[in-house]
Amino acid sequence: MTFDDFLALVVSRRTQLVMDQERDVDPNLVEKLCEAAAWAPNHQQTWPWRFGVFTGESRRGLGEVAAEAMKRRGDAENKVEKTRTKYLRAPVIIVVGTAPGDSELQTEENRDAVAAGIQNLLLGATAMGLGSFWSSCPKGANDDVARHCGWDPGTT
Ligand SMILES: Cc1cc2nc3c(=O)[nH]c(=O)nc-3n(C[C@H](O)[C@H](O)[C@H](O)COP(=O)(O)O)c2cc1C
Repeated sequence: MTFDDFLALVVSRRTQLVMDQERDVDPNLVEKLCEAAAWAPNHQQTWPWRFGVFTGESRRGLGEVAAEAMKRRGDAENKVEKTRTKYLRAPVIIVVGTAPGDSELQTEENRDAVAAGIQNLLLGATAMGLGSFWSSCPKGANDDVARHCGWDPGTT
């Protein structure tokens, strides 16, 4: 690969909001994209990344969990209702979490490593012709979503 090829890949990765909601993505490819994320630089090799993959009807379940957390927080009803079906807009949702470290610094560095890993993942998706969009978890829904993913307490 030349540097120009590399730069073209980086530049061509742009947020894509319009997606084919039902076009299947090969689960092996999803796994490989998560593997690419895990090759990111990681201080002290803490392996902080956690992945939750949602396809089909499980995307709706994810939306319900986030929406219920928002409802509990008192968010506006229209926002809550929109969230229930939000994750059906893409065929695959990968929820990425970061494990807490042994110190505040390690927790921060874990998150840095996970963010670098997500960029690897997004670049890999672009290379494979897939659209992608990095989005935050809805405010206040983090713990519920993390629990739904089966992660240890403290994973954010
Ligand atoms: C950590 C992180 C969280 C983000 N969360 C959201 C979000 O919740 N909603 C949103 O519209 N954009 C969000 N963005 C921004 C988009 O993913 C995107 O990066 C931005 O719009 C720039 O577009 P580009 O990816 O084409 O460069 C987030 C970006 C990052 C890095």
